[in-house]
Amino acid sequence: PVPVLAIDGPSASGKGTVAARVAQALGWHYLDSGSLYRLVALAALRAGVALEEEGRLAALAAALPASFEDGRVLLDGADVTDDIRSEACSAGASKVAALPAVRAALLDRQRDYRAAPGLVAEGRDMGSVVFPDAALKVFLTATAEARAERRYKQLMAKGMAANMQSLLKDLHERDARDAARPVAPLKKLPDAVLLDTTNLDVEQAVSFVLERVPV
Ligand code: CDP
Repeated sequence: PVPVLAIDGPSASGKGTVAARVAQALGWHYLDSGSLYRLVALAALRAGVALEEEGRLAALAAALPASFEDGRVLLDGADVTDDIRSEACSAGASKVAALPAVRAALLDRQRDYRAAPGLVAEGRDMGSVVFPDAALKVFLTATAEARAERRYKQLMAKGMAANMQSLLKDLHERDARDAARPVAPLKKLPDAVLLDTTNLDVEQAVSFVLERVPV
C-alpha cells in the first residue's frame, strides 16, 4: 500500500508547518485535515445551519465543494484560505468536529488523498482512525506556554492584537475539548513517536521526522 505518515497533535503545536515541510522534502502529498473541519464550519455559517444540527452538518460535509491548490483552500472555487482561520471558524470547527456523523462523512474524502508516492496527513485522528496502518505515527506537541507564545508571535507578525493570558486560556480550553470528546479524542497512541517541540525549531522538528520515515 501507499505509505502514510500520520502527524497528530494539539492546537498551535506547529504540526501544520512541520507536516507541510516534511511532505515537500519527501515529494509526497499533504493533507491538512483540520481545514476540512474548518470548511464545514464556514459552509454552515454561510448557509445558516446551526452548529448543533448534526444531520444537516453531515450532509454539508459529505457534499463539501472543497479543493486545495498550491497551498490555497477553495470552497466552491473561491479562495477561503484566510476566512477559515477566523475565530468563528476555529471555534466552529472544534464544535462540528465533535459530531460523529460529520467525522464519518469526511472519512472517505480524507482517505482519497492517499496516493503514490506517499501521503503526509496531519490532524488529531490521522493515526487512530483515518490511517491506522500508517507507516509512521508522530505525536507532535509542545507545552501550552510554548504554543501560546508561537501563536502570539504569529498574530503580532500579522499586526493583529494579541494577549498571552487569553491565548493560553483558549488553548487550555481547546485541549480539554479535543481530549474529552467521545469520538476520536486527541491522545498519544502507544505506537506513535513522541516529538516534543518545546525547545526545537522547525528545522530540528522536520529532521526528527525525516530521520524516522521508513524507506
Ligand atoms: O490550528 P489548529 O491546530 O488549532 O486547528 P486545526 O488543525 O486546523 O483543526 C481545527 C479543529 O478541527 C480542531 O479544533 C480540532 O478539534 C478539529 N480536528 C479534528 O477533530 N480532527 C482532525 N483530524 C483535525 C482537526
